[in-house]
Amino acid sequence: MTPDTIYITDVAPRDGLQNQAVHLSTEAKLDLIEHLVQAGVNSVEATSFVSPKAVPQMADAGDLIGRVQTRWPQLRSSVLVPNLKGLERAHAAGAQEIAVVLCASETMNRKNINMGLDAALDVCEQTLAQAHALGLRTRAYVAVAFDCPFEGETPLAAVLHLAARMVEARAGEIVIADTIGSAAPLQVKQRLSALRDVVPSDRLAVHLHDTRGLGAANAWAALEAGVRRFDSSVGGIGGCPFAPGAAGNLATEDLVLMAQRCGLTSDISLDALLDAVDFAEAQLQKPLGGRASAWLRRERAKRREAL
Ligand code: HMG
Ligand code: MG
Repeated sequence: MTPDTIYITDVAPRDGLQNQAVHLSTEAKLDLIEHLVQAGVNSVEATSFVSPKAVPQMADAGDLIGRVQTRWPQLRSSVLVPNLKGLERAHAAGAQEIAVVLCASETMNRKNINMGLDAALDVCEQTLAQAHALGLRTRAYVAVAFDCPFEGETPLAAVLHLAARMVEARAGEIVIADTIGSAAPLQVKQRLSALRDVVPSDRLAVHLHDTRGLGAANAWAALEAGVRRFDSSVGGIGGCPFAPGAAGNLATEDLVLMAQRCGLTSDISLDALLDAVDFAEAQLQKPLGGRASAWLRRERAKRREAL
């Protein structure tokens, strides 16, 4: 990891699509990932192995991940698993990297995966241990790390404790998530600075939602705290179906624009990313795009006219 580079995992294929009224076909999901690869994205969260009754949009997870890995063997493609059954399904389908989800409040765990915090912690630790025994790479989300939609502000001590447990469980990345997009920049800087004392900096990542328009400001605050690993979603699509008020993720195009304007490299083409946004818009039949997308589209049109 170098300090002048940011590392982006585009979570649109999972977080972006898990709560959409239009359910994309496996082919359309592969086309979306193709657009991301064309744009230079080298890490995606491809799908989730959750109950198809809970999230029907992800029912094709096994077929999808198999095809993603055959088609793009160099692409880092993780999959979300909520429990050991999810891990078993993911491994059988050939997944190479999994992500577990631990919510930092009792109620959010119950709403999301139907178990309390202690049980969820236990399941995450068991799932990580089993994944490592299978030789898989791992990530661990610490969700509602700022506010829980049911319990209010999450105590920092709880976030630090759970992140430390995920470090002990040897999660390759610990992903601090602002599930409902309620965080503010100063708070992000303070929490992530504190987290750097318990999580090695090359394993610390942040997953921001952009409900209140502060996603890019929060990403800047995370950068100032030394974080270089980010989740974002092309077009800003996303949101957890079980967290009321969760809107879209920080848009990848906003994050890349900010990174480029700050002299940080990311190897991602903004014009090609916008092509991915156009594709997602056509598929999902609604306007998409981050805060910068109108300006970015005008600039792209000018460049294309000049050709
Ligand atoms: P449950 O009903 O408590 O599970 O659901 P169960 O163990 O009692 O099993 C019930 C049925 O589900 C059984 O099938 C199981 O086999 C099956 P049946 O006998 O009825 O036919 N089952 C499964 N099927 C497929 N895959 C599995 C699986 N596990 C059990 N892995 C469960 C518990 C976790 C399954 C359920 O609550 C669930 O799937 N929840 C979905 C959670 C989810 O997808 N949330 C969104 C992702 S998290 C997020 O978006 C936040 C994040 O972006 C970060 C942030 O922004 O904060 C990551
Ligand atoms: Mg999310």
